[in-house]
Amino acid sequence: MHTETHTGLDSPRGNWWKPAHKTEKVWVGIAFGWCMVLFAMMPLWHWKGGQNPSGIRRRVEPTAFFARTEEFIKQYKVGDDRGLPIVQPPPGADVYLTAMAFQWRPILKLQKGAQYTLHLSSLDVNHGFSLFPINVNFQVVPGYDYGLRVRPNASGDFRIMCNEFCGIGHHTMVGRVIVDDAPAVATTGGAR
Ligand code: CUA
Repeated sequence: MHTETHTGLDSPRGNWWKPAHKTEKVWVGIAFGWCMVLFAMMPLWHWKGGQNPSGIRRRVEPTAFFARTEEFIKQYKVGDDRGLPIVQPPPGADVYLTAMAFQWRPILKLQKGAQYTLHLSSLDVNHGFSLFPINVNFQVVPGYDYGLRVRPNASGDFRIMCNEFCGIGHHTMVGRVIVDDAPAVATTGGAR
């Protein structure tokens, strides 16, 4: 009895090869064209989309950044909340926020409509800056100082959630940003 064997090294039997059908070629053309559109959108969206922070980036020693944060806290501290300093820098200031397992230091008190340069870095591992309930997300990487130009456009008491798994206490890593309304501008021509 003869048993025919067929392995993967042999060509498939029958008329398996046919030139691509016209619709298949059209489909490949559309798919390729769409790939090119998406490819062009990546750099275009960086400049036009206004969603990628084009901030300041530079290398920094994690301990040096932490020391700078402590200096910033000492300079503008206005209170405490459960052991964490509350810091209120003046509009235009450089603001320092250090992420570490498992806290955001310090608590920031900012003014609506004022511009700040928010410096973010980590003392230990990767953390994720995620401002709730607003859709702002940023990677916080040890060894890098990311200076983001921010202008709070809503007042309130916001939470910073860590969105990068950083260890056993990751889910407890919640920070706080308080945004106050701008102080009322004194009207001119009142008292004489
Ligand atoms: Cu820090 Cu998760």
